[in-house]
Amino acid sequence: MCGIVAYLGDKEAQPLLLEGLRRLEYRGYDSSGLAVLNGKGLEMVKKVGRIEQLERALGPNPLHGSLGICHTRWATHGKATEVNAHPHTDASGKLAIVHNGVIENYGTLKKKLIEKGFQFRTETDTEVLAFLIGFYFDTLNSETENRLEMAVMEALREVTGTYGLVAIHQDQPDVMVGARRGSPLVLGIGPHEHFLASDVAAIAAHTQTVAHLRDFDVVTVDRQGYRLKSLTHNAPDESGLEISQIDYQAADAEMGDFPHFMLKEIFEQTLSIQNAVRGRLNLEECTAQLGGLNLSPQELRDIDRIVITGCGTAMHAGIVGEYIIESLAHVPVEVEWASEFRLRNSPLDRRTLVLVVSQSGETEDTLGALREARRKGHRVLGICNNVASSLARETDGGVYMYAGPEISVASTKAFTSPTIIFVLLGLLLGRMRFLSASQGLQIIQAIEALPDQITQVLKQSGHINQIAEKYSYSRSMLFFGRQMQYGIALEGALKMKEISYIHAEGHPTAELKHGVIALVDENTPSVFLCPKDGAYDKNINNLQQIKARKGPVIAIATEGDEEILQQADDVIYIPDAPEYTAPILSAVALQLFAYHMAVILGRDVDKPRNLAKSVTVP
Ligand code: M6R
Repeated sequence: MCGIVAYLGDKEAQPLLLEGLRRLEYRGYDSSGLAVLNGKGLEMVKKVGRIEQLERALGPNPLHGSLGICHTRWATHGKATEVNAHPHTDASGKLAIVHNGVIENYGTLKKKLIEKGFQFRTETDTEVLAFLIGFYFDTLNSETENRLEMAVMEALREVTGTYGLVAIHQDQPDVMVGARRGSPLVLGIGPHEHFLASDVAAIAAHTQTVAHLRDFDVVTVDRQGYRLKSLTHNAPDESGLEISQIDYQAADAEMGDFPHFMLKEIFEQTLSIQNAVRGRLNLEECTAQLGGLNLSPQELRDIDRIVITGCGTAMHAGIVGEYIIESLAHVPVEVEWASEFRLRNSPLDRRTLVLVVSQSGETEDTLGALREARRKGHRVLGICNNVASSLARETDGGVYMYAGPEISVASTKAFTSPTIIFVLLGLLLGRMRFLSASQGLQIIQAIEALPDQITQVLKQSGHINQIAEKYSYSRSMLFFGRQMQYGIALEGALKMKEISYIHAEGHPTAELKHGVIALVDENTPSVFLCPKDGAYDKNINNLQQIKARKGPVIAIATEGDEEILQQADDVIYIPDAPEYTAPILSAVALQLFAYHMAVILGRDVDKPRNLAKSVTVP
């Protein structure tokens, strides 16, 4: 879960590489490094910490050269130290590689290389790979034209695991070789220049013409252009790469006037919800149309069970989705952590639909779940934001979020977009079963009302900030929600803990009295999700149990509910909405709550400690 950028062209590489790296910092940020090739050989600088540290180090002494590679790391093998940071060099110090992924058999390879007399300097799997490629490079005749390419391919044939990598070598100063297996790598094609990067975000400011490498592709870029080979056969790959124009404005990945990406992305939800819904409502039939599912009406009717899987925020959206789909369509739904699903023998049958949810489409455990279900012959659909992701390629169909880039590590749009897509799915499946046209129309109206209602919640940012200020002393917080708000309690707690580092737990409200209440005291605030719905009275009852134990309560309630003012210490109102769209409104309120708390506590909101945006390791 690191970020790679590489450049070969007619410009100075360093500024382009650093700019790209900044756009990838969300992928990991405990150390970074940059290497260039020029007439003087391989020059490299690595630093622990944020990319700013690297920029500061390079500021007075820039590295010159028009071929270079760089990397931002999130440690998996080995601590976050300068020596463990990428690029890694081979034994000769002339070859450098940057690598994302995990070399699973690095122990065996390392032993073999040690037996040959090599001595390692780091604890990383990537160094082993660099040594292996260097070893093959040195065994090839120096006149060999494709020497680096051949060395990379020889080495990768011995590797088990995942990689997106780029290699350069001082003795071939006009060549870079990229390869992919399991970890994304995209080739950017510009006039007189090429880029390789783990995400289009890194290069979109310079070219919109890209080709996504497929697993086992090896691409060699030189000053004349690029050529493609595949590890599954040695000859040039005649099928070539599919070149596409990306619809990605670099400005989308800028903060604009917002102080943090997270706040920008919270505010973007009025638009991202519209994007998720656009063209998907059929007013005439009072239903939803989701062409990307690639399922005939008969196949949709035949679904008798849905399994939703994902990780983190995506999984929490799935929990809300379970309640929504079961309520609107009466189709049984189960939600499983992708990391569990992929390893167990989950009973699925012919009519079970597996739905994988992921913003990035690159989360290792989610892809593992997808592949496990497909290996068993099941149809798997995706709800995904990244249209160029592994998940988008490997699923049988699905629904894109169209939420635009999400840079902040803490997901916001990636929660509300799949949630509204579950409403669309519930509507579609419900209308094929027992929902009447007038019920379908009511759901459509509730969906259409959402953007304005989200705006109403956003307007309370100042008020929510004051509440956060009041409770910023807290060491621990509890979040309670029932039914469709249960997933919001989980997500609200996740947002709070991941960016403010306040311990936070989410629970189904009624579970309070089965244990959690022991945690309640005057210093432990409880966030109570209690909109005016069928469970309101029960919620108030539970709320009073907390008050009786002197626990402060912050209620998320429906506009117009005066009674709650008597019960709770503080109230955040959300507009009146049906139970299936209300979770989106309370989610936005709790995103703001966590955001303000993190700012008040001086946390690094967009890049919380120990986390990365895209978790591409198991
Ligand atoms: O890219 P994905 O949606 O697959 O990511 C899954 C989780 O890593 C992610 O939702 C994570 O929990 C959030 N970024 C936390 O805010």
